[in-house]
Amino acid sequence: MNSKLKNKNSKLPFVFVNMAMTADGKIATANRAVHSFGSARDLEHLYELRATADAVMCGARTVEISQSILGPGGEKFRKRRLQGGLAEYSLRVIVSGSGSLDPSAEIFEKRFSPILILTTQRASARKLAQLRKLADGVKICGKTEINFRVALRWLRTKWNVKRLLCEGGGELNGALFRAGLVDEIHLTICPKIFGGRTAPTIADGRGFERLKDAEEFQIQSIRRFGGELFTVFFRQK
Ligand SMILES: NC(=O)c1ccc[n+]([C@@H]2O[C@H](COP(=O)([O-])OP(=O)(O)OC[C@H]3O[C@@H](n4cnc5c(N)ncnc54)[C@H](OP(=O)(O)O)[C@@H]3O)[C@@H](O)[C@H]2O)c1
Repeated sequence: MNSKLKNKNSKLPFVFVNMAMTADGKIATANRAVHSFGSARDLEHLYELRATADAVMCGARTVEISQSILGPGGEKFRKRRLQGGLAEYSLRVIVSGSGSLDPSAEIFEKRFSPILILTTQRASARKLAQLRKLADGVKICGKTEINFRVALRWLRTKWNVKRLLCEGGGELNGALFRAGLVDEIHLTICPKIFGGRTAPTIADGRGFERLKDAEEFQIQSIRRFGGELFTVFFRQK
C-alpha cells in the first residue's frame, strides 16, 4: 500500500515508532536473550514519548519476551499526560495475528488501562474466546495478516486514538512500514554490535524488494547523550 495515500485518509492516527538499535542495526540478540540495552536516558526518552501517545502498541513476541506492561512510567509522566490533555494512562494495543499470545504475560495482570488486541481470522474460536477474556477489546482485521489501515481506523474511530506509539518488534514495525503507515521514527543508536544473521532489526518480515518501493524518510534531528545518538526521522511525503 502506498504511503502517499495516508494523507488522504484523515481518520488514521499519527504513527510514531520508537526503537533502540545497535550500531549494526539489531534490536535484540539472535537468541532474544538481550532485549534491553539502552541507557537510563534512553528509558527516560521512552517514557517521554509514551507521555505524548493516546495508545502504545507492541507485537505479541515483544510483550512476551520483554514482559513489558506498556505503562506510563512514574507520576511525573502521568501528570505530563494530564497537562497535555491526555488520559492519565495510555491505551495498550497488542498485535497477534494467530492469537498465539501467551495469556500469562505480565501485561494482563496490570489493569490500569484498557488492553486491545488486534488479530486475524487465523485465530481459532478457542483462541478468540481466550483473547476476549483477557482484553477490553479484540478486533479481527484481516484474513491471514492484519490490515493495519482497518486496524488504525478502528483505533481512531472507536477508541479516539490520535497518536499511536509503536514499540516494535521488528515484525510488527516491518508490517507498518510496508503498509506505508509510519509517520515518524525515533531511533536510539547504541554503540554496541550484536551481529547474528537472525537477530531482529527495526523492520523485519517480508520487506521491500525494489528500491522504488522503499519507504523514504528524512532526518529531522540528531542529538548525542553520552555514547548514544538520539535520532528522529519523518516520512517524506
Ligand atoms: N530494542 C528495542 O527497542 C526493541 C523494541 C521492541 C522489541 N524488541 C525485541 O524484538 C524482539 C521481538 O521482535 P519480533 O519481530 O520477533 O516480534 P514482534 O514484532 O514483537 O511480534 C511478532 C508477532 O506479532 C504478531 N504480528 C506482527 N506483525 C503482524 C502482522 N502484520 N499480522 C499479524 N500478526 C502480526 C504475530 O503474532 P502471532 O504469532 O501471535 O500471530 C507475530 O508473531 C524481542 O527480542 C524484543 O525484545 C526490541
